[in-house]
Amino acid sequence: MTKTFRMDEAQPRLLDETGQGVVGAPLDRPEGKLKVTGRARYAADGLPPGAAHGVLVRATVAAGRIAGIDAASVSGIAGMLGVFHGPRFLRNPAQGMAGAAPVQPGDEVHYHGQPIALVVAESFEAARDAAQRLAVTYEETGPVVTDPAASDRLERQDPVTAGDFEAGFAASEVTLDRSYTTAPHAAAAMEPHAALAEWDGDRVTLRGALQMLRFNRQELADSLGIPAGNVRILSPYIGGGFGSKLGIGPEAVAAALAARALGRPVRVVMARQTVFDAVLRRTETLQRLRLGADRDGRLRALSHDDRVSNIEGEGFAEPVSQASQFLYGADGLSFAQTLARVSRTPAGSVRAPGEAVGMLALEQAMDELAEMLGICPVELRLRNLPEKNPVTGQPFSARRLADCLREGAERFGWAGRGAPGSRREGDWMLGMGMASAARSNMLVPSAARVRLDGSGAVVETDMTDIGTGSYAILGQIAAEMLGLPIDKVEVRLGDTSFPGASGSGGSFGANSAGSATFLAAKAIRETLAARMGCDMSELTLQDGIARGGNREMPLSELVGGQIVEEASIEAGETSESHFSSGFGAHFAEVAVHAYTGEVRVRRMLGVMAMGRILNEKTARSQALGGMIWGIGSALTEEMVHDPRTGHVVTRDLANYHVPAHADVPGDMQVVFLEERDDMANPIQTKGIGELGISGAGAAVLNALRHASGARVRDMPATPDRVI
Ligand code: MOS
Repeated sequence: MTKTFRMDEAQPRLLDETGQGVVGAPLDRPEGKLKVTGRARYAADGLPPGAAHGVLVRATVAAGRIAGIDAASVSGIAGMLGVFHGPRFLRNPAQGMAGAAPVQPGDEVHYHGQPIALVVAESFEAARDAAQRLAVTYEETGPVVTDPAASDRLERQDPVTAGDFEAGFAASEVTLDRSYTTAPHAAAAMEPHAALAEWDGDRVTLRGALQMLRFNRQELADSLGIPAGNVRILSPYIGGGFGSKLGIGPEAVAAALAARALGRPVRVVMARQTVFDAVLRRTETLQRLRLGADRDGRLRALSHDDRVSNIEGEGFAEPVSQASQFLYGADGLSFAQTLARVSRTPAGSVRAPGEAVGMLALEQAMDELAEMLGICPVELRLRNLPEKNPVTGQPFSARRLADCLREGAERFGWAGRGAPGSRREGDWMLGMGMASAARSNMLVPSAARVRLDGSGAVVETDMTDIGTGSYAILGQIAAEMLGLPIDKVEVRLGDTSFPGASGSGGSFGANSAGSATFLAAKAIRETLAARMGCDMSELTLQDGIARGGNREMPLSELVGGQIVEEASIEAGETSESHFSSGFGAHFAEVAVHAYTGEVRVRRMLGVMAMGRILNEKTARSQALGGMIWGIGSALTEEMVHDPRTGHVVTRDLANYHVPAHADVPGDMQVVFLEERDDMANPIQTKGIGELGISGAGAAVLNALRHASGARVRDMPATPDRVI
């Protein structure tokens, strides 16, 4: 029986009392060795006997309808097995629908590069050959609009407001009105999207690279027209997701359809170019920031309007002003969004949707305001921290933003940064910049099962590990709760036959799957306490020994055979009564070449308060990774679309430049400030994955300004924009 727990009130900080010191410790990932020695089986690894190879065929027009697909055009290719297309070849929402209305008919084309068919052959080479030769005719509909600025299909959302922005802006002594743009971003996961489907009667098993299996199983079932109970998805190892594997992908649906029709396993692996073409991107943004303040730096008015894009029919709109709605207070606030329909690769969640790009603009605008006022940028932020969430009125559950700002300034040597443009080493101009960090925090329903027997414990959940450390932290939580050394806990993930979890997305995985694991282990603790005849608060479990009520006993003896508990967590009253977010402060020092405009990041520091840290090492790696993505968003990452067709031009990791080693300084520091978020969940954690990126790029751009005088409002700040 699953016990469901609702987070209705603050819970005891049990993980502070168990006293093992396993939770929080900087332990290695248990699966690390498997990954670096090539033994971890990813979706595309290994082929069952009789498997066939599928390659996706992609649309060569940007808008229209498929008039005909001539399978005879490829029938002469040796080893051809079939061409699959038609109304069942559905286009799933990029974001994952998770029970929402399905999908669009497979014969409608909404963007250049959209998967429209699958060709299957005995060899990959034959399938790829066929995919390139397949004759497809289209009825094109036009005109094709690829530029959001030219789109007349605009959906304006009702503005979110608090107080009177216009009055506050008019009454302000100093005002600023600036526009910023950010480029479309690719998720750019290392592992290309892949699927291997195999049927047994009316049941299908899919090996895939997916982030949210509980939802993906339902999505695949809906696409195939079968019950979810007939679908099993295995995704034990995933080579990065960054949002691009949130929803079921065309490779998975196509592989399952073809495998059913052919009666043999089918594998579909996307080429890198297909990933860029056909997997969701982050929208480009146009952002307008208006800030009004008094001379002493108190904000009176704050408005953040944005325009984003997506293709027709997609529900997702990047929540650009998310952080602007809770970070600072003002007498009047206003946030308006416009969604433009265009023919470009579908837009969805990529690495901190909302904050990652919204804060590039907001935190530059705050820097510009500080400059206009002659106030230190750290001080300007400290003066404007609201008592409560300025839009919803909710108190913050835990917020150490002021501490992060002060501690960061101290550690980074902020006071010694000098006047703008005053430091130089030869042709390099040096400067420092900073920005706040914020990323809203969530809890998603999750279940987990924990089994304890004489030899140790096993944790089972369909939670995924996209490279973030789920295997490590879930094992640590169970070990801590059950008094076991970490190597006595085995964690099994990525299989929909296990209890359904949140999956990995929105930085909610550790909170959600972690809480479920905690609750299942806690239920076992309760059973053990009852067997010891003591209160759970008196029970101690350490090194395999149980103590309580003046008794002492080997844990294995107390357990007898085995104890199995399954528990689930869901959000409750605390998600309404309080507002939860991770907070931090980013500091950057950069060098800008006076003649070429090249920007080199010299060092970075992120000081973050993100609830209880479950594993010091994996948490730090997450934070560092986020900061590195911040460098990318500031300086190099830019997805380019052909203006005529919307076709992606930057279709590989050479042309879409994510930070490489040479772009990242050796001196990257992360400092965690101790924190417990009692309102967030029963383990008092906050999401970590995405806080590192949120604000980091703005710190780099503010440093660029301080060093060189260049204020780059169209991002990324490539050398041509700096000079
Ligand atoms: Mo995240 S962008 O929700 O994987």
